[in-house]
Amino acid sequence: MFTLLLASHNQNKAKELKALLSAMNVRLLTLNDFPDIVPTKEDQDTICANAMKKAFEASLQTGLLSLADDTGLFIQALDGKPGVYSARFAGEHCSYKDNRMKVLELMTGITNRYAEFRTCVALSAPDGIISYKEGILEGFITTEERGTNGFGYDSIFMPISSPKTYAEMTDTEKNSISHRAKAIETILPIIKDIIALSKGGL
Ligand code: IMP
Repeated sequence: MFTLLLASHNQNKAKELKALLSAMNVRLLTLNDFPDIVPTKEDQDTICANAMKKAFEASLQTGLLSLADDTGLFIQALDGKPGVYSARFAGEHCSYKDNRMKVLELMTGITNRYAEFRTCVALSAPDGIISYKEGILEGFITTEERGTNGFGYDSIFMPISSPKTYAEMTDTEKNSISHRAKAIETILPIIKDIIALSKGGL
């Protein structure tokens, strides 16, 4: 069986990726399987540069084909904020809830609620980046939290095509339209080709 490393500790992301890879004979590991790995500093100016840095450093340290993603919520009325700084928008050690509250507070009284969730996924081997792809989903910032599923900004983001926020959707519903799913779907054919060309390892 082919082994792919998701260069993340986030179990929600691993769950989403597992569902998207379910038709393929792939064993998915995460950084939780490598407790001694040196963490990547996410200090780049774009989500794609961060995704590439994470994927490459994880692959270099483990020898495994590695996939990493970086995501940002880009809100038009806030000049694209929180963008590449989405994880620590409310401060260095803030919670998901702190970030959502900061967005809702900044958006008080603003009628233009348009926002985009953008994910960049990068695929790397130990000798360098193989590819990277972006997935974008357009939507609106709600005026209050709605729903309890998911994570991050899910309960305040409502895709344009849906009356529900991400957090009001089932995992299957979110996976069928999400920014991350779009990005992963465009990189899946490359992963499939690599698996077909290999005999189980890199
Ligand atoms: P990162 O890509 O894990 O660094 O994510 C950056 C920020 O966006 C974090 O605060 C995440 O919680 C948030 N985020 C990433 N993906 C999603 C998602 O699918 N839904 C809601 N929030 C997300």
